[in-house]
Amino acid sequence: MKPTINICDGCCCGRVNKSNMAVPTTELKALWNEHNLAQHVNLRVTSCLGPCSRANVTLVSTSEGRTWLGGIASEDHYQTLVDWAQNIAVNGPQHPLPDSLLTLKFTPV
Ligand code: FES
Repeated sequence: MKPTINICDGCCCGRVNKSNMAVPTTELKALWNEHNLAQHVNLRVTSCLGPCSRANVTLVSTSEGRTWLGGIASEDHYQTLVDWAQNIAVNGPQHPLPDSLLTLKFTPV
C-alpha cells in the first residue's frame, strides 16, 4: 500500500483569520513534483477532515494504520512531511514518521 498524506486546508486548517497558519499547498505540490514523490507517496489536499479544534490537521495513512497529526504551526512540520516522503522513496514504505511529527499525534474523539 502506497502511503497517503491528507493535508487539510478546510474551513479552519489554513485559515489565517482563525489564527491558523496558511497551508503551503503550492509549495508542497511543487516539491512533490520536483522530487517525483507521487510514485511513492500520495499527496492530497483536502477539505475539512473533522477535528477542526486540532487545526492544522494532517492524516497520514500507511500499511501500519492511520496517524492523525494536529497543531501544525510551522513550515518545518510541512517540510518534515516532504523529508519523510523522500525517505520513503529511498528506504521503502515502512520508513517511520520522525519523532518531530509524532509529537503532534492525536486520537480524534
Ligand atoms: S478544517 Fe481541518 S479538520 Fe476541519
